[in-house]
Amino acid sequence: MTRSVIAGVGSALPRHILTNDDLSKIVDTTDAWITERTGIKARHIAGDDETTKSLAVEAARNALAHAGLEASAVDLIVLATSTPDHTFPATATEVQAELGITKGAAFDLQAVCSGFIYALTTADALIKSGQATCALVIGSETFSRILDWNDRATCVLFGDGAGAFVITANDGEEGGIMNCKLRSDGRYQNKLYVDGGPSTTKTVGHLRMEGREVFKHAVTNMHEVIGEILRAADVKVADIDWFVPHQANKRILDTTAGKLGVPTEKFIVTLDKHGNTSAASIPLAFDYGVKQGLIKRGQLVLMEAMGGGFTWGGILARF
Ligand code: ACO
Repeated sequence: MTRSVIAGVGSALPRHILTNDDLSKIVDTTDAWITERTGIKARHIAGDDETTKSLAVEAARNALAHAGLEASAVDLIVLATSTPDHTFPATATEVQAELGITKGAAFDLQAVCSGFIYALTTADALIKSGQATCALVIGSETFSRILDWNDRATCVLFGDGAGAFVITANDGEEGGIMNCKLRSDGRYQNKLYVDGGPSTTKTVGHLRMEGREVFKHAVTNMHEVIGEILRAADVKVADIDWFVPHQANKRILDTTAGKLGVPTEKFIVTLDKHGNTSAASIPLAFDYGVKQGLIKRGQLVLMEAMGGGFTWGGILARF
């Protein structure tokens, strides 16, 4: 049976770092409030010359280098983003051109903060069905462009960045991507959304959120989907070496760890440095975990996310 294995990981961050103290000069907030409620201390903000595409290309190049592969090997690009460079074409095709790739297919996928889980699940399915052999799966975002910088309840939470995986087809190999679960419930679309779009306001719009509602659903949905994956893969929670969650809020991660009965030390945490980078947060955190020598080859890793829609899901993989 063909499996998808994670051949390489990479990431990219904008040059400029915005600290909580910097933010307190823009809106009525404090480092103490942001740290206590979210765990976030700083985030990277894209400059005019840094875009979702440029960050995606840098992350992709780093992931290819880590995998020891040339861009010419890639026959699929799935790019998760809610902040594309243009309404169309897909940022994925712009990345494809920049990397000099002319074969295979490239497309964007939009599931907000769950985007990377959706993208990796899609690429895994295309590899397993024989339609691709080497995929770049990218999460890249410039959420700073859709924030209302007058709204202290949301602008303190997000940051920009990109992360990428190279996944390759391997026949009969153990491990790799073992189980994927995707979920959504559109009844909650107005809890976290952007108030603009090409077909409605003809503007890009700004992010709006009911923070408490999102928090409540995030904890419940994360716990549920992790349980479903563990049961489907016949794996015990204690067997998981690392959890790589979407980096939204330290309190969501701590509550999820508590409900699972696992120490928070098993959670890779980068939100203190990156804030919430939406679809980029899981591959950014995964790459950080690998580079820090935490996540090692052969270990069992569970990735999970929830975002606007609501969408949520998780993936179990042996690295
Ligand atoms: N600085 C200071 N005060 C603030 C700030 C700020 N940045 N933002 C809000 N406040 C104030 C509010 O105005 C309110 O004041 P009031 O009591 O005088 O009205 C007070 O703080 C409490 O506001 P709440 O919104 O009730 O604060 P809460 O404790 O719920 O924390 C937070 C807000 C951090 C957003 C929390 O609800 C949360 O973490 N929610 C999860 C949302 C999330 O992470 N979303 C990310 C996208 S979705 C995802 O990725 C899963």
